Amino acid sequence: MLAHAAKHDEAVEKILSQMTLEEKVGQMAQVTVDIMKDRNTWKLSDSLMRKGIVDYKIGSLLNTWNNSAPELIEWYETLKTVQSYTQQTRLKIPLVFGIDAIHGANYINKTTLFPQQIGQAATFNRALVRRAGEITAYETRAASLPWTFSPVLDLGIDVRWPRLWETFGEDPYLASALGVEITKGYQGNDPQNIGKFNVMACAKHFLGYSAPVSGKDRTPAIISDNVLREYHLPSFQAAVEAGIGSVMVNSGLINGIPVHASHYYLTDLLKNELNFKGVIVTDWMDIENLYKRDRFAVSSKDAVRLAINAGIDMAMIPYNYDFCDHLIELVNEGAVPMSRIDDAVRRILKMKFELNLFERPYENPANYPLFGSQEFRKAAYETAVESMTLLKNENNILPLASNKKILVTGPNANSMRSLNGGWSYSWLGDKTEQYAGEYNTILEAVRKNAGEKNVIYSPGVAWIEKGKYWEEKEISIKAAVRAARKADYILLCVGENSYTEKPGDTHDLALSDLQIALAKALQATGKPVILVLNQGRPRIINRIDEKSKAILMSYLPGNFGGDAIADVIFGKQNPSGKLPYTYPKYPHSHVNYWHKYSEEQTRAEGMYNYESDYSPLYEFGHGLSYTTFEYSNLKLSKTKIIENETLEVSVDVRNTGKRDGKEAVLLYLSDLYASLAPDMKRLKGFEKIELKAGETKTVKFKITKTGMSFVNIDSKTIVEPGNFEIKIGNLKAGFELTPNP
Ligand code: BGC
Repeated sequence: MLAHAAKHDEAVEKILSQMTLEEKVGQMAQVTVDIMKDRNTWKLSDSLMRKGIVDYKIGSLLNTWNNSAPELIEWYETLKTVQSYTQQTRLKIPLVFGIDAIHGANYINKTTLFPQQIGQAATFNRALVRRAGEITAYETRAASLPWTFSPVLDLGIDVRWPRLWETFGEDPYLASALGVEITKGYQGNDPQNIGKFNVMACAKHFLGYSAPVSGKDRTPAIISDNVLREYHLPSFQAAVEAGIGSVMVNSGLINGIPVHASHYYLTDLLKNELNFKGVIVTDWMDIENLYKRDRFAVSSKDAVRLAINAGIDMAMIPYNYDFCDHLIELVNEGAVPMSRIDDAVRRILKMKFELNLFERPYENPANYPLFGSQEFRKAAYETAVESMTLLKNENNILPLASNKKILVTGPNANSMRSLNGGWSYSWLGDKTEQYAGEYNTILEAVRKNAGEKNVIYSPGVAWIEKGKYWEEKEISIKAAVRAARKADYILLCVGENSYTEKPGDTHDLALSDLQIALAKALQATGKPVILVLNQGRPRIINRIDEKSKAILMSYLPGNFGGDAIADVIFGKQNPSGKLPYTYPKYPHSHVNYWHKYSEEQTRAEGMYNYESDYSPLYEFGHGLSYTTFEYSNLKLSKTKIIENETLEVSVDVRNTGKRDGKEAVLLYLSDLYASLAPDMKRLKGFEKIELKAGETKTVKFKITKTGMSFVNIDSKTIVEPGNFEIKIGNLKAGFELTPNP
């Protein structure tokens, strides 16, 4: 590894020493490939490529063109051509092409689409998440694309936020652990020498992007430094320690400061304190936004000055070359130091060496025989199955016998679009039906399981596909009710249509009125309703959950989601997913599971009697199985430890039911008293195990100083002597951390 680094450094310095200011600035510029293509034919244009690649000497391109998912061969031809234009430049530095490949290589036709990150988190299965990363990397690189803008390491703490489903959920430990797995899957074992089946990853969006006060995308957040470090930083820190090659910046403001202009967040914290040696790239148009949106900079040029001096290495411009003109002027005027430019260009050149782009600027798709293979599809299906989270199963109504009559209904019953969510073939996922015809919707998969003759389909309500993501219409609730009378069971598939980012903002977290009306009308028939939730964030279902006999949360399970849902409903698969966030019961009562004690006050004595109402519908970590597990024998290696000692914890888990099953064993730690009011409990370990019926396994965890620490009000990570409690399943055990002798 060291050998690679030294070799790269030498090569980088050699190139850098020959570069003019214009060439350096060009390397820092990234534009969308759209502006290299003729808008009528979507063919690459000689004059547009000459302008960008040869004249402006730009170093990077991004995105698909025409908001679509081209074939592998079209990607190959595009990359081969754009890279050939770099040969007409003096230094012949290859372009690095970045793409959002976030649940599979979602901008390439016939790729393997996995569940979105939130579903991957629900598996609590490190190996599956790593595999998803590896396969995504393979298929992305098959299209000559060496750099993915993934993973999202923002914490999914606000269920209103339209990108909740792009995260690994609300817990910092889980997001850190899975962030590391997917990063290793993407980048392979040596981040300094990323081979032809791997890609460079990009941790986004640094930092605090997921916590805007309004719950709406790209709106301001108010986050104190200690809170930022306690909850939002760990996943990024873990990825940096795992060698992630790039980081993308939060498009929003924290405490009134745009993160793109924050020297503190980008340079002091990320580059200096975390020692991040890779490339910091902006988000879409976010230098321009400092001026045009946030009015933080007084002109476009001032915005460039602020962002580059704050620590940005590459600008995702993405539609023009003004950035280059401004930056050249700023350096010539002395407003941006050359040392800052050199730092940025060193990082970008190093990235290109790490990706071996000088030797192989594009790849031959023929060398990727596993693209879209059965082997990859199986992995995506297995991940979808393990993401399925059974929230409720009254009287063990599930699994269903396959010879009963079933009504399949609801707007998501026959939709590939809702199964995949945003970033699927197009940005908002609205073109999915054009591409994903060969996969099974829930309806199609249920028909395969139960036989055509046993399935009645009557959607009741449908999305208006060309409308906003939330626009829907009634087809006929009456017809669905009539159909229900002929059925033994009702499979009601509700939730959301696909969206992301700003267009995915919501004013109302409740499930839509039409879907509620459909559910109520169906429940009134007295036939058992099985609710399948297919949604990017937890829509409020408190008017229909009680009368639903079973509730299966499927998140956004991808192209094999229909099969996974049906196979769980009919018992071919045993569900083992657990919620990676807390599902609120009421729209104004969303509290994360790790909240402070004051969220759960019991009745106080005296005049002012009150109690607080912590009332999630389902807490983080909830998820049922078709079998049962019993926890026993919780053992700690010691009951008193000092700071640098490691506590060993073990617990026995037994499958007490009749079916084989998988269980995510979650370890929570509570610091009982602390100088910053402690959280009630925090996840500090998890292990997914498989148990045959009747089998027992012992699961072991280690708790170190890091696990027992917290960030105090002065932003220092500390451990305090005192009592702690460990909780696993329904068991508890205490230990004391004593001062160092
Ligand atoms: C999103 C990023 C994405 C980028 C490039 C932005 O609008 O916020 O997550 O990587 O676009 O497509």
